[in-house]
Amino acid sequence: MEPIPVLKGRRILLGVTGGIAAYKAADLASKLTQAGALVDVVLTEAAARFVTPLTFQALTGRPVYGDLWTPTAETALLHVALAEAAELVVIAPATADFIARQALGLANDLLSALCLATRAPVLIAPAMDVQMWAHPATQENVERLRQRGVEVVGPAYGRMASGLEGWGRMVEPEALLGHIRRALGRRGPLAGRRVVVTAGPTYEPIDPVRFIGNRSSGKQGFALAQAALDRGADVVLIAGPVALATPVGARRIDVGTAAEMAEAVWREAEEADVLLMAAAVADYRPAQPHPVKIKKGAPLTLDLVPTVDILEGLAARRAARGRPRVVVGFAAETEALVENARAKLLAKGLDLIAANDVTEPGAGFATDTNRITLIDARGQVETLPLMSKAAVAEALLDRVVALLEEKAKAP
Ligand code: CTP
Repeated sequence: MEPIPVLKGRRILLGVTGGIAAYKAADLASKLTQAGALVDVVLTEAAARFVTPLTFQALTGRPVYGDLWTPTAETALLHVALAEAAELVVIAPATADFIARQALGLANDLLSALCLATRAPVLIAPAMDVQMWAHPATQENVERLRQRGVEVVGPAYGRMASGLEGWGRMVEPEALLGHIRRALGRRGPLAGRRVVVTAGPTYEPIDPVRFIGNRSSGKQGFALAQAALDRGADVVLIAGPVALATPVGARRIDVGTAAEMAEAVWREAEEADVLLMAAAVADYRPAQPHPVKIKKGAPLTLDLVPTVDILEGLAARRAARGRPRVVVGFAAETEALVENARAKLLAKGLDLIAANDVTEPGAGFATDTNRITLIDARGQVETLPLMSKAAVAEALLDRVVALLEEKAKAP
């Protein structure tokens, strides 16, 4: 896993309480550390029976804490020091017992004491048996925590260690990571801004079972949505038919055809500050989709007509409303990259266009990497090195933040 800018160097306090899901907390600690966070782990006595402090120490490369009463060289008031240093407190898993103690405001071990002492936001991931979660006592306690501003993530539905099925499983570390990114990005440079992102292909029906589509995976668009979320934006993700997981915090609108995507983009763009048009919209569609499945046999000719150009259609609306303030297009080319992309930037009235040569190794559809050339409205051209789609998204969002600032200053 490569470093994640919103997590890099951030102090996260990971509290682990005593449930079988504690082993998943080790995975979470590992992921956060690999992403560049500084993770201080505090175990309750019960948690240390499930997973040893040594495991967490090895994964985070930092001291692990468990006992309120051990005098340490660094500090006499450990709970206060840890509570002060934390930018975010994450309790995963949070047992019914720990939640009950929190609801009462008890402070009888290091973890509960520092939860009272901290001013950082607190996120908990409950994990317990189905009946314990459903019990009115637990539900009341969780509600009290929510009302105090604690973010409660999960539990998820599924099979429990007991063999029962129901609500009570801890949310998977990957999803928790999304919630942690959201919590830490909240006051970022795009806080209060709305960013609309399109991603994936469109499918144009030939008949009820067949379509014309393209090889777009949606990965670059989803990475852009995540990078915008990391900067605190409200994100609307308009997705063509792809099976990728929605980044935590994004509002996803699934569409099929270019016409459906156009309608969604034009509607959402009215309130948007930024539009990132990463979708690979089909350029042609069958003129008349067959109402029933076409039978094989005779040679078949399909009549194709152009689809609506979403960005072109947006230009007039944008001129009238002044929104989105910043529009970024993408250009997938196989030749004359810069010339073609610049022509698209001008024709579609864009602020920035990200062009890539899809014939280049590592830069096409469905790969995890991309090499893009950025061209702005002033004609400046910058080619970025081959990098992951996540890193491309970071670089692009930094440009978007700068463009928004420029526009705010412009008379
Ligand atoms: N785009 C759009 N509506 C379409 C086709 C494309 O809004 N019907 C957008 C894409 O999302 C992209 C940009 O326009 O941001 C350029 O897309 P691309 O397919 O590379 O360019 P086209 O204008 O379709 O030109 P061509 O396919 O001829 O290269």
